[in-house]
Amino acid sequence: NQNKSLAGKTVLITAGPTYEAIDPVRFIGNHSSGKMGYSLADEAAKRGAKVILVSGPSSEKVSNKNIEIHKVTSAKEMFDKVFEFYDTVDIGIASAAVADYTPKVVASEKIKKNDESFTIELIKNPDILKTMGEQKKHQFLVGFALETQNEEENAIGKLHKKNLDMIVLNSLRDAGAGFKNDTNKIRIFTNTKKVEFDLKSKDSVAIDILDFIENQYLK
Ligand code: PMT
Repeated sequence: NQNKSLAGKTVLITAGPTYEAIDPVRFIGNHSSGKMGYSLADEAAKRGAKVILVSGPSSEKVSNKNIEIHKVTSAKEMFDKVFEFYDTVDIGIASAAVADYTPKVVASEKIKKNDESFTIELIKNPDILKTMGEQKKHQFLVGFALETQNEEENAIGKLHKKNLDMIVLNSLRDAGAGFKNDTNKIRIFTNTKKVEFDLKSKDSVAIDILDFIENQYLK
């Protein structure tokens, strides 16, 4: 993409999983690789945007000098990093798979294997995207929904509950979609539109998402 359609815009992208510590050696995590978010960061940077990529643990690499990467571990750290920059952001895209719950207590030493059963009490993490929606001024906000059932209903529910401009649904019921794969299959919803896309590489999905954002936001 030679045309710098996002020149002058700041795009903040969350990517990857979060890790919630249980003790110094263990955590609760998920299967997100970061690929979807890093593809989005690359494509936005190619289009001339200044990209702030807030990433949980991922082995993906960035090369474009328009991408400023901030590595975090937990949901709480991701929350704090996002809100360091949120006022300066034009477009926010939340592709991270953020843990909804975190251990109430983090053991300071490695937990020993003693009892036959073991319980970890979890408490709710802050919802980063929902808070972005509550604090929205000029920002154009894009969420993701990762669903396994009642996909469209849940995605549209999140569009409204989190005060988003657009939501990208990927369903684990679609082969080749979601976590880890180099491919994804998405549906995009706004308040008035629904568009369904074919299975394609995450780089191509990022192009579709950014084209859609530009059509909604820049026109
Ligand atoms: O990283 P990959 O392996 O490439 O996989 C990509 C992906 C499947 C992780 C990605 O495409 C995706 O769907 N990301 C969102 C995953 C998710 O956690 O969805 P959700 O339906 O639980 O959350 C809804 C939205 O709220 C998401 O935009 C999420 O980033 C955001 N959220 C959720 C909880 C929370 N505490 N804070 C948030 O910001």
